[in-house]
Parts: sequence; C-alpha cells; structure tokens
Amino acid sequence: MCGIVGITGSREVAPMLIEGLRRLEYRGYDSAGIAIQQPGGLRVHKRQGKIKDLEVDLPWEEMQGICGIAHTRWATHGEPNRVNAHPHQFGPVALAHNGIIENFSSLKIQLEKKGHEFLSETDTEVLAHLIEDQYDGVLEAAVQRALKLVEGTYGIAVIHEAEPGKIVGARRGSPLVVGVGKGANYLASDVAAILGHTRQVIYLDDWEMVVITPDDVVTTNINNEAVAKEVEEITWDLDQIQKGGYPYYMIKEINEQPMTIHDAFRGRILPDSGDVKLGGLQLTDWELRNIRRIIILACGTSWHAGLVGEYLLEEYAQIPVEVEYASEFRYRSPIIDPGTICLTISQSGETIDTLEAMREAKRRGAKTIGITNVVGSTIARESECGVYIHAGPEIGVASTKAFTSQVTILTLLTILLGRRNNLSAEFGMRVLQELQRIPGKIQKMLDMSDDILRIAEVYKDHSNFLYLGRGPNFPIALEGALKLKEISYIHAEGYPAAEMKHGPIALIDPNMPVVVLCSRDGSYEKIKGNVQEVRARKGKIISVVTEGDEEIAALSDHVISIPETLDMLTPLVTVIPLQLLAYHIAVLRGEDVDQPRNLAKAVTVE
Ligand code: AGP
Repeated sequence: MCGIVGITGSREVAPMLIEGLRRLEYRGYDSAGIAIQQPGGLRVHKRQGKIKDLEVDLPWEEMQGICGIAHTRWATHGEPNRVNAHPHQFGPVALAHNGIIENFSSLKIQLEKKGHEFLSETDTEVLAHLIEDQYDGVLEAAVQRALKLVEGTYGIAVIHEAEPGKIVGARRGSPLVVGVGKGANYLASDVAAILGHTRQVIYLDDWEMVVITPDDVVTTNINNEAVAKEVEEITWDLDQIQKGGYPYYMIKEINEQPMTIHDAFRGRILPDSGDVKLGGLQLTDWELRNIRRIIILACGTSWHAGLVGEYLLEEYAQIPVEVEYASEFRYRSPIIDPGTICLTISQSGETIDTLEAMREAKRRGAKTIGITNVVGSTIARESECGVYIHAGPEIGVASTKAFTSQVTILTLLTILLGRRNNLSAEFGMRVLQELQRIPGKIQKMLDMSDDILRIAEVYKDHSNFLYLGRGPNFPIALEGALKLKEISYIHAEGYPAAEMKHGPIALIDPNMPVVVLCSRDGSYEKIKGNVQEVRARKGKIISVVTEGDEEIAALSDHVISIPETLDMLTPLVTVIPLQLLAYHIAVLRGEDVDQPRNLAKAVTVE
C-alpha cells in the first residue's frame, strides 16, 4: 500500500504535492519522491525516509512547475532507497505506482532484449519503460497499450515531458480518486491528499482511466471507451479518511484482512499442480527437500503465528519444528545441526530480540529465512532469503492483519515443503482452492461484528478471562488472550484446553468468562468435554463454534458461529472473532486501542 498524488493547475504544485504526501503517509512511509513537468523536461527528486526528510532535502528552487506527481512508498519489490523510490522516470516519462506488477520479470526481459537498461529492483520501473516503449505522441494511448501487457494490481499516475499539464491515471485493484477543482484537477490514492483543495471527487473503478488537465477531466476504460462517472461530495474530515471512516486503525486493519490475506497469496498459488511458488525463497529444490529441522524464532503475536506454523509444518509437511521465544533462544546454547532452517517471523522486521536470535542461529550455521511485513527492514536484509507477507502498513500497535498474513504465508510454505515431501497434488489443490475462499469467509464474520459487540457489553467489566483451544486453535487462544490484555488491560490467559485440569480450572467460578474455540475438527469431542468441565464449575462460556453446531451452543452462555473450513485453515477464521471481542471490550472501556499503554509497535530495545 503506497500513496500517490498528482496535481495540474496554475499554481506551483510542489508544496501542494508534499502536503498531499504528508496526508497519505499512513499508507507507506519508507521512501518518497516528486516529479514536476518543466519547460526543459521533467525534474524528479526522491529519497529514502519520511515525507519530512524529502521536504528538507528538496531543492525547492529547482522544483518549479504547475503540473506534477508524487509518491510515498510502502516497499514490496526492492529495498527502501533513493533508486527504488517513486516516481520512476524513463526518458520523457515519469510514473508513480501503487500495487504489484506480477509479470514484471518477463516484461523486463523483453525490454532488455530491446536494449532497455534498468536502474532499480522495482516492478514499477518496468511499467515506466513499457509506456515509453509504447509511446507515439498520445500518453493515454501508450498507457492503455502498456497496461494490456501487465498482470497484477495498479493505481498509477503518469506524466510525459511532451504533454504539459496532462496527468494520466489508471486503476486495477488499487484505489484511485480524481479531485475536481476550478482551474486545477487532482489525482490521489485517497481523498485525504486532496481534501484541502476540493470536496468534489470521482472514484475510479477497476480497468478505468482518467486524463486530467487544469480545465478538464476525461474518464474512459482501458479500451479508450468513454465512461460516465458521478462526481461525489466528500463530507468526512481528514482523521476519518486516514482511518477509512473507522474510529481506530486497529478496527480498520481487522476489516482489511479479506484483502490482505488475498495479497499474501496473490501470485503465489499454482492451482493446476496444487503447489506454491515463493519468489523470495532462494533455496534449491535439493535444499527444500532436505530440510531436517525448522526452528521458528519470534516474539509476541508473531510467536503465536509460529506456533500455528509448527502444527501445520509437522502435520502436513512432516518436518520437525521448534518454536522459540527469540529472547530466550539467544541466551541458550541452541544446537544447530546441518539441514536446520531458521524461520524468523517479525511484522516490523526490527524486533531486537528476534533479530539477535536470528544472528545467533546464523552464527551457529542455520540457514535463515525471514517472514516479515517491512521490505528493507533489518531482519529482511540480514536473513539469507525470505517471504514478504504484503499486509501493508500496520499502524495499530495490537497486531491483527499481520498475524493472519503470517499464518497465510506459513500455510503456503507448508504446502510448498509438503509437496516436496509427502503431500499429494490433489490435497494441495484442495487446500489452495479453499484458501482462496477464506477472504470471503472472513468477510462473513466481520459482518457479524455487532453480535460480538453485544457479547462484549456483557463481559466488559470482568477482570479476568480464560481462553482455551486444542491443536492449532491453542495458539489462537493465546493470541485472543494477548489481544485482550494489550488493549483492554484485563488479565487474560490462553491455555491448551486439556491443560486446564492441571491448574487453571481452579480459577473457574461464575465470574470467570471462558472463551473456548470449538471448531468442528479432529479434537471436537475432546473440546466438548472441556466445555462441560467449565460448565460444571459455573464458568461463563463464550464458545466459538462451526456454523450449525447446536450441541456446544446449548452448553454455552454466548455463541459465536464461524464458517466451516478445512482443519488446516481453521486458525485463519477462529482468530477473527477474538480480535473483534478484544477490540469491542477495549473501546467499551474507553481505552485508546491504537496506542495502548506501555507498548511500542516495534520493540527495538531489549
Ligand atoms: C502484538 O499485538 C504486539 N504488538 C507484539 O506482541 C508484537 O507482536 C511483538 O512485539 C513482535 O513484533 P514483530 O512481529 O514486529 O517482531
């Protein structure tokens, strides 16, 4: 997720572009740039870092011009640095892009055969070259021809030095909005960037394009057929827009999960062979087939994702896995045998305990694979290879969408390794088909948020909670308890359900809410017994059951139904109601769920 803004009018655009980027910074903040049309050509300035860094660095006196585009980046391909920052210029063309060009490698090869040379590691630069290659005097026509060769997602803004005052925009899969002004017109990833100039906007839909000049807005589709668009009035304020109309980033990010899970597996599923490709996983087929042991290193929510990964990798890829608290691992004398892979999971890629543990594993000879959300983060740079989860910026301190994207990547990795071990193509296909249905199933649960709010109203004043689960639902019980702890400050514990009898059952009385994960999987009969045990001690039972399960519903005080899915994918659905329950309880208690006390988004100190 990046931020794009384009302005064409009669006033100097550089200050307005910078202000627009500042308002889009929540969409990405690792590097930024600006491109201005000038009589002698294009003037492009970009750098690594935040908008304030670009603002300080910008040679303002050289950035004169009344038409330009700008971009703030959330890296997906290529580290955050000046060369990889947008806008990408190739000759007379400059382009800012939000999205992923999936077939950029093959396009690059074709263009290199024509003598093109590339400066950056990005997928986007290829599109700038492609547009220049297709150019015959009319920019929008060149963009249309180029986009017909592209696979993937995009929201783009393009300028050409030979067509002053013109900005061409196009959208497929990434948001793009046109701002309709008087004597000036605007283009942006969302209205936050242009709200200061106009409240009259046009939302582009997929496969649509726009050509804006100071006095005109022309909307077409990618086949250059005219498309009539409605101009809408924006009534929201800036804070609302940056949060997408949600009161907090956390609930916005919870609701983004259908999209982010889709982005995590986008372009990585090989449906015909029931297999998976993970481009960043630079391991030979021999290395993939000869993994003897996997050590997972992580902290907090990422550690819980690691625990789900352990169940999946051992069950379906038959590889022994140990999940280690990174902070403990680094001070132990871990034994690393040949064939040991170290999977390092971190949303931020900067958690010092996880980083140092990875360095320790590396020192002892383990091959290190990073699973992270931040391109160019230290863990991404220092691990030998890795997989990005593509969850986009996660602003809320309580991790939600990053967790389900981490679990999605671990599911893909399990299929990839399983298919090189014991897993049949048929089983692989079944899981990957069902994985592509998960975003829809999660949307169904997000639509039940009000039902979970009503449960939260009943339990918001309790001071203790117990979460129980079995198998891959045990880490989900831990994650549910952590979410409640970190944003509502209620004491909560997650436990393997069978472990309850060995102590925690002593805590159960009519004042103890017990959340039990009872999806209809292999351990169903056992978990039903655990619900009975809680019921016998008058604990308050909130059960998460598979749709249509009347049995456990009859034993519970409150029931949350989840859609049926494969055992292997259950953690991706059972966690959603727990995220919502924690969120609603914290909001009802008046807590600031985005900035919980005592916590930091990335823990970079020991
Ligand atoms: C989770 O909600 C917390 N923010 C925290 O436990 C977090 O998961 C932990 O600090 C690890 O962060 P990382 O994934 O960025 O390494």
